[in-house]
Amino acid sequence: MKQPILDFAQTDRLGRVTAVDTSRVVIGVDDADIVTRVGIGTVLAIRGATEREYLIGMTQRVTRTVEDEILGEGEPGDDTIQLGPRPVDTIHAVLVGTFRIVHGEQPNVFKRGADSFPQIDRDCFFIDGANLQRFMGLLGAELKDEERLTLGHFVVDRNAAAIASGDKFFQRHGSILGSTGSGKSWSVALILERASKLKHPNIIVLDMHGEYAPLARPETGFAQGFRIAGPGDLEAPGDDVIFLPYWLLNREEMLSMLLDRSDQNAPNQASRFTKHVRELKDKSLEAEKKEDVRKTFTVDSPIPYDMSSLVKRLEDDNTRKGVGANNKPVKGEWEGKLTRFHSRLRAKLDDRRYGFLFNPPPAAQEYGWLAAQIGRFLGSSENCAGIKIVDFSEVPSDVLPVVVGTFARLLYDVQLWMDAEKRTPFSIVCDEAHQYLPVKEDANAAERQALATFERIAKEGRKYGVSILVVSQRPSDVSRTILSQCNNFLVLRLTNDRDQGVVRRLMPDSLAGLTDILPLLDTGEALLLGDAMLLPTRIKLDAPTDRPDSSTRDFWREWGENEPDLRAIEQAVETLRRQTRPTE
Ligand SMILES: Nc1ncnc2c1ncn2[C@@H]1O[C@H](COP(=O)(O)OP(=O)(O)OP(=O)(O)O)[C@@H](O)[C@H]1O
Ligand SMILES: [Mg+2]
Repeated sequence: MKQPILDFAQTDRLGRVTAVDTSRVVIGVDDADIVTRVGIGTVLAIRGATEREYLIGMTQRVTRTVEDEILGEGEPGDDTIQLGPRPVDTIHAVLVGTFRIVHGEQPNVFKRGADSFPQIDRDCFFIDGANLQRFMGLLGAELKDEERLTLGHFVVDRNAAAIASGDKFFQRHGSILGSTGSGKSWSVALILERASKLKHPNIIVLDMHGEYAPLARPETGFAQGFRIAGPGDLEAPGDDVIFLPYWLLNREEMLSMLLDRSDQNAPNQASRFTKHVRELKDKSLEAEKKEDVRKTFTVDSPIPYDMSSLVKRLEDDNTRKGVGANNKPVKGEWEGKLTRFHSRLRAKLDDRRYGFLFNPPPAAQEYGWLAAQIGRFLGSSENCAGIKIVDFSEVPSDVLPVVVGTFARLLYDVQLWMDAEKRTPFSIVCDEAHQYLPVKEDANAAERQALATFERIAKEGRKYGVSILVVSQRPSDVSRTILSQCNNFLVLRLTNDRDQGVVRRLMPDSLAGLTDILPLLDTGEALLLGDAMLLPTRIKLDAPTDRPDSSTRDFWREWGENEPDLRAIEQAVETLRRQTRPTE
């Protein structure tokens, strides 16, 4: 007969259940030696209601207290009793699943969650050695080959590969959370690398620091790199440079950049802006002979229009006199009311940092340009496996949220309006999400635009095959609405209390206890909590082959070896002035 998966010897016995509290159990340890083998995150089996069932738990806390114990009878005639210290070891564990030796017809079935509560006094065993290997092997074996996303191996058993369900991981939004330097960017690179082996992966990475560039190097990388145009790209933009011309922004996005809501004329400014933009878009459609679009478009539709005409119309409004009695000029209806709006717009138009928005090349003003651009992001081509990395590092921080939001909204809206059966699912990786998807109460007008888009994707994206992967070092600063829609959490070391608290609250009660080990995780170690992996245990992630430019520097060693490069400092000052990096 085949070796059973769990085959316990007497030496594996830890003790007995002494207390149960929903998903937590307390185990009284009988053997003081065995307890030294138990660490945080060790996998345990507790005998279930029948001989064929074990409840699987993970240790959360191991404590030793000392009680007084009667050591023995005194000498005859001596009626004092001798007391001595006795160690009492207790293990606190969280129940994470149920293992059945047979379940219906099927042998060896593990499922998440505990179906029943363990009874007091039930035996409890330590799963290690061969038992652990067989048990961990069982977890990955349930996934079909084409569904497997191999992330690394289990910390409790280095021989067992930690395999998640790639489908489940991407299906319903996920997040990668961890303190700075815990290994988030490396995990993203690893997941992208695994996805790149598929025929047509479709992932768009929003790269805030340009750190994923090595993954898109033409000779060695597997992804396609794009860059939002910086001030240096306006004259002769390369093929990888993207513009997001102003006409892509909807009314609210545009106003969030240009309107000062505290200005008493704000409503007038917004209404004139809206009227003119609508008319200018209508004119473009007329020139393009798009009569069918003309009938139903709105001011929010992405239709090119001429910025200089808009500026002129606003100037006219702002200076036009009214006509009073006897044809005498009087103060015009809009006169002087648009001054501040106009000057804010002009300031943006003249600032080269906003060139990617307001200074697009002529090609990006053409009607057909948008479809071709979206095709680059949602399609795949011969020389690109379908993973696209978009570098936002040169986008000014005040408009970053609007730009990220507009970009994601366009991709999402196109997907939404596409024939349902022709859609290919895609995922957007939001690196450094706290920078543009903050908690709502703290959000400014620009951030609220980005939030609206991403919250919409988080809530309804699943139906259209759009998912997001939120990456952040400050989960407590990231929109709760978005995080709470995530189904899988790859949580790396997290040291801050508030951040741990957020992760804990996002977990179902039964798993919340596991978050206690988050501050203890080593770099590159993580808990994968969610439905993508059966057992929410500690895993060591594999290192990606193409590594992001994010490495932790060896300060002490480098100070011992390297002299600062004055020439490089000088160049950096020039780059700072230029506000754009020299292209290699
Ligand atoms: N799986 C891993 N195995 C070994 N080392 C790793 C692993 N992941 C990360 N590291 C180490 O940790 C360093 C920092 O990792 P990474 O850049 O991914 O951190 P991060 O969480 O993205 O930080 P930040 O929030 O600051 O962006 C890497 O340069 C690498 O040296
Ligand atoms: Mg990072």
